[in-house]
This record gives sequence, structure tokens and C-alpha cells, in this order.
Amino acid sequence: MKKIVVLTGAGISAESGISTFRDSGGLWEQHRIEDVATFEAWHRNQQLVLDFYNQRRKRLSEVNPNAGHLALVELEKKYHVQIITQNVDDLHERAGSTHVMHLHGELKKVRSTLDSSLVYTLDGWELKKGDLCEKGSQLRPHIVWFGEAVPLIEPAAELASDADVFIVIGTSLNVYPAAGLIYNVKPGTPVYLVDPQAEMLPDVKNLTIFRETAGKGVPKLVNQLLGNE
Ligand code: APR
Repeated sequence: MKKIVVLTGAGISAESGISTFRDSGGLWEQHRIEDVATFEAWHRNQQLVLDFYNQRRKRLSEVNPNAGHLALVELEKKYHVQIITQNVDDLHERAGSTHVMHLHGELKKVRSTLDSSLVYTLDGWELKKGDLCEKGSQLRPHIVWFGEAVPLIEPAAELASDADVFIVIGTSLNVYPAAGLIYNVKPGTPVYLVDPQAEMLPDVKNLTIFRETAGKGVPKLVNQLLGNE
């Protein structure tokens, strides 16, 4: 079976009703990264950071996967599909995708501040001050904050380098190391980009752009790859 690796970003969940980060009106216009998404922020004002992720977790419980997420599941009929997502939502899993790697963590999980191997699935949407791990330390969101290492980047780079087809959906490709994964694909590998703001990438050969939303562009691309058109 041919291997398709799909790198997704906030844009694939936009039509589900989750804000992206850098579009106009996006999350980083409403919150300062240094207030809510760094370890220093957590150190300075835990409540502000908890509130930010609690709101996002609450929102996640109100939304559903869209046609973009669902089309990627269809691809599994003919290909081994590995999704590498920068998103912390669980919409790929809820759509039914089988292999999903979360590069930047998972909103529904929390972990110990004392022992990072202690990761738990949170019941409900609210993480509070005083919620402790089994060793008695405060739980924090299971999120890779700015300035923190991305623990899964090496396995992700290996997957990218092994891809027969590489698809990028709904990411501004602003944040490294995730944005660099596209440069791990073998020369000659077909690369597809689905994003209404997509631009040519001068160093990527064999690039095809679907300059449209994920809800429209991904089903089209999937049909093409399944040979349905
Ligand atoms: N369909 C597809 N793409 C869309 C849609 C849509 N309906 N709406 C917006 N987009 C595209 C935008 O054009 C943009 O290229 O989604 C992209 C969103 O970019 P960002 O907001 O920068 O999100 P992302 O690339 O996922 O951010 C990367 O930055 O803040 C951190 O950790 C956070 O994982 C995140 C990382």
C-alpha cells in the first residue's frame, strides 16, 4: 500500500468552528502568545493559562469534524494514511482517521508538572488549580508551548521522508520545526497543498495547489487520489 502523509494545521478545523491562530480575528489577535502559551506564562499566571485552554476545550466539545476531516478517512480505503497534525483538537480521531500524530499536544489531555510521563485524559473541559497528578503536583495542559521542545519531531520527520505522497492542509507554515517537515520528503514525491492562502514553495518540486478551503479542496483532492474522477 502506498503511504500518504498529511500535515494539517488550524485551517482544517476552521470550518468546524475553531479559530485559526494567524488569520484576521485569529486566536493570536485576541491573546498574546507570551501571556498564555509559554512556560513563563504558566509560571507567572497559571489561572490565565488554565482559563485560555479551558475555553478552548469547552469550544471543542461543541464542534464536529467537517468534510475535510471526513475525506481524509476515505483515503484509507486505498492508502496507508498517516496524519501529522499541529492541531490540539481531536477532530481527526472523531472523524475516524486511524493514524494521527499530534505534534503540539492534545487539548483533552493533561499532564503532571513533576513527571512529564504522567499523562491523563481530562474528564470534561475544565482543568483547575489544585487538580493534581498521582504524585501530588499540579496538572498542566498537555500542550507544546512556544519555546518548548517538540518531542515527536524526529518520528514525524521519518514518516515524512518515507511518504509516497505528501499533503499539507490549512497551515501557514510559520511555526518550526513542524513547517520544516515538507523538506524531509524525498525529491520527486508529489506534494499537495490545500489552503485558500496557499503560495508556491520555491524549493518544493512536484507541488500542486488547491487554493480553497479544506471543506471543498480536501474532498476534491481525495477523489482525485482515489481515482474517482
Ligand atoms: N481551510 C483550509 N485552510 C484554511 C481555512 C480553511 N477553511 N481557513 C484558514 N485556513 C488557512 C489559512 O490560510 C492559514 O494558512 O489555515 C492556516 C492557518 O494558519 P495558522 O493560524 O498560522 O495555524 P497553524 O499553521 O496551524 O499554526 C501552527 O502555531 O500557534 C501555533 O501551536 C500553534 O499549532 C499551531 C502552530
